[in-house]
Amino acid sequence: MSLLLSPLAIDGRTVRNRLWVSPMCQYSATDGLPGEWHHVHLAQFASGGAGLVIAEASAVVPEGRISPGDTGLWNDAQRDAWAPIVAAIHSRGAAAGIQLAHAGRKASTWRPFDDERGSVPVERGGWATVAPSAIAFDGYAEPAALDTAGIERLVTSFADAARRADEAGFDLLEVHAAHGYLLHQFLSPLSNHRDDEYGGSLENRARLLLRVVEAVRDAAPGRILAVRFSATDWADGGWHVDETATVAGWVGGLGARVIDISTGGLVAHQRITTGPGYQVPFAATVRERTGLLVTAVGEISDGPHAERILQDGLADAVMVGRGWLRDPHFALRAAAELADDDAAAALWPPQYVRARPRA
Ligand SMILES: Cc1cc2nc3c(=O)[nH]c(=O)nc-3n(C[C@H](O)[C@H](O)[C@H](O)COP(=O)(O)O)c2cc1C
Repeated sequence: MSLLLSPLAIDGRTVRNRLWVSPMCQYSATDGLPGEWHHVHLAQFASGGAGLVIAEASAVVPEGRISPGDTGLWNDAQRDAWAPIVAAIHSRGAAAGIQLAHAGRKASTWRPFDDERGSVPVERGGWATVAPSAIAFDGYAEPAALDTAGIERLVTSFADAARRADEAGFDLLEVHAAHGYLLHQFLSPLSNHRDDEYGGSLENRARLLLRVVEAVRDAAPGRILAVRFSATDWADGGWHVDETATVAGWVGGLGARVIDISTGGLVAHQRITTGPGYQVPFAATVRERTGLLVTAVGEISDGPHAERILQDGLADAVMVGRGWLRDPHFALRAAAELADDDAAAALWPPQYVRARPRA
């Protein structure tokens, strides 16, 4: 039996395997409501054998959306639209997660498949953005610096969204503190120039994230709490892996059970060296420093590669993004690649079993 396709116990729950679907925005919602596209899109990965399917970055307030097409969890209608999607994922044997997000200064942008780039003007359906400091992301509109009342409202919004995620039935709630979005903007000295208790020292820059993690934990106490970090800004003077490991330890102390390690996204002048598994060493460092369950993501393209990462003790589970878009039955294929017949027998939907390759 492979490690990749063996169950993982987290916080009293069992996830059927360690090959997960990384959150991926579809930019296909109206008024933050997930619809028919999201239902089919997410359920197909559960049919394809994923252990956990994490739904895309979903905004906790409307102005936290990356684009006007983002999903959200700022009202009960959105909760009610997520619930049948969660049920569809569950009925196919996978656990369901959702990423709770606020895009900060990277909000109100055109969708990747729109003809235009950068910020959507207010008169064309965009909105004014907020951030720790009034520093624009290169080429985007300048955000307003959040005041203390705005920060308080944000913490409450994360808690309210977490309660709705819990009511919709999600097993795992992931706080999005990566990819240059709002919580990452607070963490990084490149985007946070505040001189109050939310800026300056590491403790201060991490304060909002820690408050959000506590608020989410308290609003959804029975669910698995995860945090996604960018382990480095890939830029001089930016956020880096030592700080990531320290803050990951702090959120672990507050009840986060899964640390999801990605990188980058904060500044346009980042210099990334990509390649197969290029973010895995960051996950390994955080895992070693914290002892928490850590996931690796980024150009992990097949079962044997994912299995090696786990066998080498570099991560506890593997997230795949684009690989699932290329092949929604990624885990069924991984079972064949790893010659894991027990996993294949358990994962193949009975409706599809006549297509299952036999050794
Ligand atoms: C279409 C698309 C949408 C994405 N949306 C999100 C998102 O909502 N939240 C997030 O944290 N990462 C997002 N990502 C990043 C992925 O989760 C993943 O970390 C990244 O694609 C690297 O993994 P991969 O090489 O397996 O694709 C997105 C990636 C893609 C391709």
